[in-house]
Amino acid sequence: MVDPNGWDRDVSAPTGPQHSPPDSFVSQANVSDADVYATFEDTWPECWERAAELLEWDRSYDTVLETADAPFYRWFDGGRLNASYNCLDRHVESGRKNHAAIRWEGKHGETRTYTYRDLYVEVNECAAALRSLGVEEDDVVTIYLPMIPELPIAMLACARIGAPHSVVFAGLSADALSTRMDAASSEYLLTCDGYYRRGDAFNQKSKADNAVIDLDQDVETVVVDRLGEDLPHVLGENERDYHELLEEFYGETVEPVSRDADDMLFVMYTSGTTGEPKGVVHATGGYLTNVAWTSHAVLDIKPEDTYWCAADIGWITGHSYIVYGPLALGTTTVLYEGSPDYPDRDRLWEIVDRNAVDVFYTAPTAIRAFMKWGEEYPNRHDLSSLRLLGSVGEPISPRPWEWYHEHVGNGDCPIVDTWWQTETGGIAVSTLPGVDEMKPGAAGPSLPGIDARVVGAGGEPVEPGQAGYLTLAQPWPGMVKTLYEGDDRFVEEYWRRFSDPEADEWVYFSGDAARVDEDGYITVLGRVDDVINLAGHRLSTMEIEGAIADTDGVAEAAVVGRTADSSDTEIYAYVSTERRVDDEAAVRSRIESSIESAIGPLALPEAIVFTPELPKTRSGKILRRLLEDVANGEELGDTSALRNPEIVGEIQSASRE
Ligand code: WTA
Repeated sequence: MVDPNGWDRDVSAPTGPQHSPPDSFVSQANVSDADVYATFEDTWPECWERAAELLEWDRSYDTVLETADAPFYRWFDGGRLNASYNCLDRHVESGRKNHAAIRWEGKHGETRTYTYRDLYVEVNECAAALRSLGVEEDDVVTIYLPMIPELPIAMLACARIGAPHSVVFAGLSADALSTRMDAASSEYLLTCDGYYRRGDAFNQKSKADNAVIDLDQDVETVVVDRLGEDLPHVLGENERDYHELLEEFYGETVEPVSRDADDMLFVMYTSGTTGEPKGVVHATGGYLTNVAWTSHAVLDIKPEDTYWCAADIGWITGHSYIVYGPLALGTTTVLYEGSPDYPDRDRLWEIVDRNAVDVFYTAPTAIRAFMKWGEEYPNRHDLSSLRLLGSVGEPISPRPWEWYHEHVGNGDCPIVDTWWQTETGGIAVSTLPGVDEMKPGAAGPSLPGIDARVVGAGGEPVEPGQAGYLTLAQPWPGMVKTLYEGDDRFVEEYWRRFSDPEADEWVYFSGDAARVDEDGYITVLGRVDDVINLAGHRLSTMEIEGAIADTDGVAEAAVVGRTADSSDTEIYAYVSTERRVDDEAAVRSRIESSIESAIGPLALPEAIVFTPELPKTRSGKILRRLLEDVANGEELGDTSALRNPEIVGEIQSASRE
């Protein structure tokens, strides 16, 4: 674990001038009364009932928060509900059936609109189809699809029949898919023939095939035909074509299964501090409450809005804020298949303009790219429909914040810099845009009902301005329920560090470092564990190191993140080879293919630096921290405690090459 006080390069990030939300925004905001903080604090945990009222429950809960089994908390204990009912049926029944639910923007300019009624019909057919394949309540269904409407449809179909989904990001490799299916004992897979990456047809089915071959269990596979004649494919045994299968259930409806609030809605595998991905489990009642509430209070979503979160549903941001949150509120959610610069760098602004998007939510990595490309691209379009902007995924420093504010938001859209994680399920730290001042460079205070604290190594609060560990001192409804088949690891990873189990005091540790100012505004500095945040993808250095170490000729490897000049994080791999190796170029290319097949191309390093040895302590531990400083061009402190201090200079010069 890294001591956050060693983080000089980030700690000095300045906080820019404050901005107030304009009156025109405040007067229409879903939440604009500053008393909301005090009310939530005074009535915690009952305050969360206000959020639960955004949903329709089949049976209302007996207790808001059951703590008997902490840290395995039960939110809305005794309550029952169905997530797909909440995202579909109730909007159809309340006269909003012809309102657009999803606007899909395809890679090549194709568009498709699903009204709530259309979505309801297809989700029902898909639910019936899944049942016909044998899917029962609590069976995990794996979904390996790119950003096409069938992805949220399949998720909602699973939710309808009480089958947890496990969505695997489409860019991950066959190995990554089979590891996740195996870990969740999942025997059902929804995938597609392929999809377009930039201009080219890319074969997804062959990756899915390889994953299934690796598995011991039989897998029922459903294949969406996305590419038609661009990628003909043949279906094998246990494989069905999605559209043909749904035709067999034309017009059929499936009664939504009433789920216990604590029943699993989905599992999402994410990178942790070991090479094994963690299956983060989210419960139905708490999760849906949390994402509906934050969509309402932070993203200020109204049912009549067109809202666009330009993330991928293969990660948590898309689960919470493309699918469940916005659909629970009955709004129109935009689904974009393509990339921000294809066919041109104004693609996103063209979509905002054409759809008159009200609220836009993206990641700092994208904002930095927009800034680099220049304001001429947003300037080509009418962006005056925008009311609120959001940022998520990594810290946003003041300069891109100001650029986003001025050139996308025309100076009058508030920005919410939202801190959260796969494990928190929903936004936990952010300003409330209708209430709070914004300080570029700081995410904001804890949301009402959340108790985020920055603490020192012993759990004591740090002084304002000092760096510490970001913890959550109270449970919250969207919290990770457990790790799939990993209760012990759940306690170990998140609760052991700062809790006092004897006293029954439980504190959640996020894995992030942060500092807090006098007003309680939190600036997140980054991860202190072995996780790297790479352009919105969360990767484990251990997982990448494992893939490198599996390569013929490699002796040892250490992987670190380089974040220079508040630009995108890059992966730097330091590798020592076995003595017999004389062709480094060949090892390099073997390393790259090993990473591609173990994880996917997104984990490819920016630089692979060969060195005769890695820097080690006298006890033989690799000093990753030192390598991180080398990669970042930092001053190195005292290296005399190293067993091999002479290696450092050599690595520094190799790094510069
Ligand atoms: C980072 C994505 C700074 C953080 C929702 C966290 C942020 C990790 C912010 C979770 C933010 C997310 N400012 N850092 N506004 N939002 N992070 O699980 O390091 O993919 O722990 O969830 O992203 O990544 P994950």
